[in-house]
Amino acid sequence: MMLRQKRNVLIAYLCAMAETGTDIARAAQLLKEGRLVAIPTETVYGLAANALNEKAVLAIFEAKKRPHFDPLIIHVPTVESAAKYALLNDPQLTRLAHAFWPGPLTLLLPKKQLVPDLVTSGLNRVAVRVPAHPLTQQLLGLIDFPLAAPSANPFGYVSPTEAHHVNAQLGQEVDYIVDGGSCSVGLESTIAGMENGELCVYRLGGLTQEQLEEVAGPVKLLLNNSSNPSAPGQLKSHYAPRKPLFVGELRDLETQFEGKKRAVLCYGKQNDLQSELVFNLSEAASLYEAAINLFRFMRLADESDAEVVLCQPLPEKGLGRAMNDRLKRAAVKTA
Ligand code: TXA
Ligand code: MG
Repeated sequence: MMLRQKRNVLIAYLCAMAETGTDIARAAQLLKEGRLVAIPTETVYGLAANALNEKAVLAIFEAKKRPHFDPLIIHVPTVESAAKYALLNDPQLTRLAHAFWPGPLTLLLPKKQLVPDLVTSGLNRVAVRVPAHPLTQQLLGLIDFPLAAPSANPFGYVSPTEAHHVNAQLGQEVDYIVDGGSCSVGLESTIAGMENGELCVYRLGGLTQEQLEEVAGPVKLLLNNSSNPSAPGQLKSHYAPRKPLFVGELRDLETQFEGKKRAVLCYGKQNDLQSELVFNLSEAASLYEAAINLFRFMRLADESDAEVVLCQPLPEKGLGRAMNDRLKRAAVKTA
């Protein structure tokens, strides 16, 4: 081991954190040995392992405390390589793959036998995605297996968009964190697939409904199917900070929680907010900027001394729809 690498290992050991860096060869080696490595993607950080190695996949479920009925996405380097693990023969899905991969789109495709049932929780479709982050693209080029990777957060919590988010919660569970900086999209991928001849969206994320429809025609949104966990990320309580979060008109919420310490997540120009701790998702009212900031600010609000987190809904279009979906699931449920 080189001196610098030895020093990094020692520091990581002393701080009970995972070694973090950009050593792709080391990450590839660890993955070949069946170990867990956190990887950056343009959407959020993933907790990756060799998808064809059941023991390694089991370690993902354990590290996240994730129930085995919640299947994992596999990550491959190209459209062509996706065909090794899944059938990409539907014309609409093929069009989407060519239009948006690499990018924030996951497709549910009929699985080929070599994908372990553990990855798909016994379902006959496998979720496949080609991530766009250059470091993860390099990493996928060094290995000859797909990477199973859920978001690198404990089950039910907010997804990580920076390497230190992973370290804070799963640092002791992973062997290496590839630091790819802040995620450029900031929301999980959009999940789509065919059902009874219709193009369905199971989770709205970094690719908007408008973008999908432009390429493949009208889509059916199946986002609230909590009785049918075909995409359990859509279970009702998810993506949630530990502090109670309320979504609504900010002035009303501030009045309702007067006397409590409040952290506020807002959007666009603001001049009459009464709370001390204000996180503006995008003063310029850019949904792209807001998406990059949303999970980071939820974490900051959660770590602050606020007692409640108040958030205004975003415009119900483009990435705003995906963000409103996350907020709804993160929020305290009022009957
Ligand atoms: O952007 C993303 O998609 C990130 C990055 C790391 O790629 N990954 C991610 O994974 O968000 P995860 O596991 O946190 O969310 C994936 C969602 C889950 O809700 C899971 O239930 C659903 O995809 N899913 C995975 N495989 C599925 C399958 N075969 N059928 C139905 N839903 C599936
Ligand atoms: Mg997740």
